[in-house]
This record gives sequence, C-alpha cells and structure tokens, in this order.
Amino acid sequence: MDWKNWKEIYASRLCTAEEAVQSIKSGDSVIFGHCISEPTGLIDAMVANADAYRNVAISHMVSLGKGEYTKPEYKDNFTFKGIFCGAGTRKCVADGHGDFIPVYFSDVPVWMRNGLLNFDVCMVMLSPPDERGYCNLGVESGYTYQAIKSAKTVIAQINENVPVAYGDTFVHVSELDKIVEMNMPLFEQAPPKIGEVEKAIGKYCASLIEDGSTLQLGIGAIPDAVLAELKDRKHLGIHSEMIADGVIDLVEAGVIDCSEKTLHNGKMIVTFLMGTKRLYDFAHKNPMLELKPVDYVNNPAVIAKNNKMVSINSALQVDFMGQVVACTIGKKQFSGVGGQVDFVRGAAMAEDGKGVSIIAMPSITTKKDGTVISKITPYIDEGAAVTTNRYDVDYIVTEYGIARMKGKTLKERARALIEIAHPSVREELAKEFEVRFNTAY
Ligand code: COA
Repeated sequence: MDWKNWKEIYASRLCTAEEAVQSIKSGDSVIFGHCISEPTGLIDAMVANADAYRNVAISHMVSLGKGEYTKPEYKDNFTFKGIFCGAGTRKCVADGHGDFIPVYFSDVPVWMRNGLLNFDVCMVMLSPPDERGYCNLGVESGYTYQAIKSAKTVIAQINENVPVAYGDTFVHVSELDKIVEMNMPLFEQAPPKIGEVEKAIGKYCASLIEDGSTLQLGIGAIPDAVLAELKDRKHLGIHSEMIADGVIDLVEAGVIDCSEKTLHNGKMIVTFLMGTKRLYDFAHKNPMLELKPVDYVNNPAVIAKNNKMVSINSALQVDFMGQVVACTIGKKQFSGVGGQVDFVRGAAMAEDGKGVSIIAMPSITTKKDGTVISKITPYIDEGAAVTTNRYDVDYIVTEYGIARMKGKTLKERARALIEIAHPSVREELAKEFEVRFNTAY
C-alpha cells in the first residue's frame, strides 16, 4: 500500500472510460459490481467498443441496468454467464446464447479464491478517495472486494454519488489499474406497492416475529410489507444479505436498534443496499450499518450466531411436499438462489434454537393475459429447479395463513398447504391430493 504517493498513483491511472475498456481483450472473462453498484459508465463504454471483442464472458449478480451486452446482435462479442438473472438478462439465457451458473451467493467469493470462478477483468463503481487514498464500495460489499483482489485488471468508475459506508468497504487506489471519473445518479428502486394481499402476508409473518429478533429480508414487496407490520415491536436487529428503504422507518421509530443482537451488537450487518437515495444517504457514514462480504454475512454458521434469527424470503412455486421454487419458472431461469437457502439453514441452526425461516408469497399470480396461476401446486413445473428443499423448508405463508412444514408427513404438509391456497383452487387441489396420495382428502 503506497500511502504517501497515492495522489500520484491516482493521477497516473486516470483515463477515460473508452481508454479503460481497451484493457478488456477477446476471450477475457469480466465481472461487474452488481445491483446499485453496477458501473454503468464503464459498461456503456464496453458495449460501445463491442467490435473490438470476440467471446468476452460477462458475469454478475443482480443487475438493474439495460444488459445490452446480452442482446443477440452482440452474441459473438459477449457471452452472458450469469450468477443471477434479472429483467435485463434472463431473455438471453432463455434464448440460448446466454447461460447461468448455479452458485450460492455466499460461495461466489470462495469460488473466486479457489479458482472455480476466474475473472480477468473486474469493473467496479467506487466513491472518490478519502484523504488517505481509500475509495469506498458504498452500496455493495458482497463479492466486489474479492473480485478486486482476484482479477488481473481492475477498472474503477469513481462516482461522487457513492456513499461511504462502514464495514469491509475500503479499497485503496493502489489496488486499481484504471481509474475513470464519472459521476452519475445511482440506480433507485422505488419501494414496492403494498396491496391488501401483501398486507395480509405481512401480518402473518409479523405474528412469527418476537421482540428482540434479528431479521433477514429477501427481495420483493413482501419484506417491506412485513416491516410495515412491526411498528409495535421492540429491539429488532438486522443481519441480512440486503436491505431496502423499509428498514429506515423502523430505525427512525426506534424499533430496529440492534440492541439485543448477539452478533455485532448495535449494528445492522448487510452485503448490499437496494432502494432509493434516502437509503444511500442513510448508509453514508452511518456507524449503525456495516457492509461485509457475502461469504461472511450469508454463511449459515455466522447467521446461526444471531439469537431469535428470522429469515423471510419469497417463492414462485411451492409443491405439496413443501419444495420451494424461487429461481425458475418452468425451464426458464428467472433469478438465482441468492441467500435464500443459506438463511433458511442459518435460522434453523440458530444457537438458541429459536430461529424461524419463512417463505412468504401471494397464493396466486395473474399473468398479463389474465391467466390465474396457483403458486401452490401438486408438483413443481416440468424443468423447474428446487431452491429450498423439503428437508430445509419450515414456515410457508400466504395471505390465507401459515403452514408449518417441519414435523409434518407428506399428506399433512399437502393438507396444510391447500388450506392456505387461494379459495378458488382449493377444490381442484383437493382432487389432485387424492390422485397424488391415493387416499381421500
Ligand atoms: N408461475 C408462473 N409465473 C409466476 C409464478 C408461477 N408460479 N409465480 C410468479 N410468477 C411470475 C409473476 O406473474 C411475475 O411475472 P411478471 O414479471 O410478468 O409480472 C414474476 O413471476 C415475478 O413474480 P413476483 O411474485 O412479482 O416476484 P417477486 O418480485 O416478489 O420475487 C422471487 C419473487 C422468488 C422471484 C424473488 O424473491 C427471488 O428471486 N428469490 C430468490 C432469491 C432469494 O430468495 N434471495 C433472498 C436473499 S436476497
């Protein structure tokens, strides 16, 4: 670490985005910072330079960007090898010219270290350096720091809108090979709309959360709906892969104070933020929040050190045995496992024996053409992949109630699930039960 000369180092590595992306060579593998941390200025420059590349592999977790490198016209230039799929990237996987690597989010830094995932180039977005030459990851610390350590070339977009968050978030300018100054607003994900269904789900989930619990909240509308029902609780804590704006109201109301956390007492521990500017401002130099790597935060053994650990995640489909599908719709890759399984297991392993894992979802979904689909089904769809298996799953919640899976037989599970299915499909599911189990419902 060259403390004294960091300003010279910074100046000598400063270049334009167009110059920086020339370090990417045909055949390279490239990983980006993900979610709010996506270095969009560098990605746009890389796509603009597409003609210079053949077969550049692109990987990242959650992407909120356009994902132009996944478009068919670039299929000879870029190959998407996602470790998560999102709105901008799932089409290329479904169409066949992209692909998906099944990997627990927590394993991503581990696989970078042991060589299962190798990246030539890492592109990140960081805050400007402080007086000692340290930039900050600001909104994401999951795998980005390990990517900086492991990649042969590191290209950083320096953006003054990236907050300075505490935790394992500081990156010295001497670790960067190319530095591009490019300010732009950070992505913002507006808080989801909470309708009557989400509200009912939130109430059922809240009924499983005691004062003094530590929460993990997954992606989607349901976590915010749960938080909205927790205003009368005391001394809640956060140990979560991600947080959104919903936690701020509870912090401001004194409900989330982390005062009873048995690990990192007094602090919220997360790997990334996904919300609005309000959340990024909240994160800026906030001693109550620490961002840490995902192989630590999502490690079930670490999660288990939190007393009264409660994990809340969502699903696309649950079958009669309680098998949870959260990443695929039939054969199509929809998202990725993220931290779902790690948190389900970590809560089950909680050292005080009081961990609770919840899979919460609306009972039905309505497609754009008006087709109504029950998310509780006798069998998972053909080609679908199980995310949380029937041995790990515990509470399933819909707007119609709570079905606990642990301790129940297959038939008991199916009956409990049919009771919380949408009323319009219960009769049909009861008939399916009789076919499936060769016995009366
Ligand atoms: N069959 C067909 N389509 C379905 C479906 C089903 N059983 N269930 C949902 N869908 C469709 C919805 O209609 C919707 O389609 P649209 O985009 O055309 O409107 C889409 O799938 C998304 O459904 P929705 O219920 O809005 O999902 P969500 O935003 O609440 O996210 C997960 C739910 C499961 C996809 C999300 O939580 C996830 O990716 N989980 C895995 C990772 C994880 O749990 N991480 C936790 C740690 S952060």
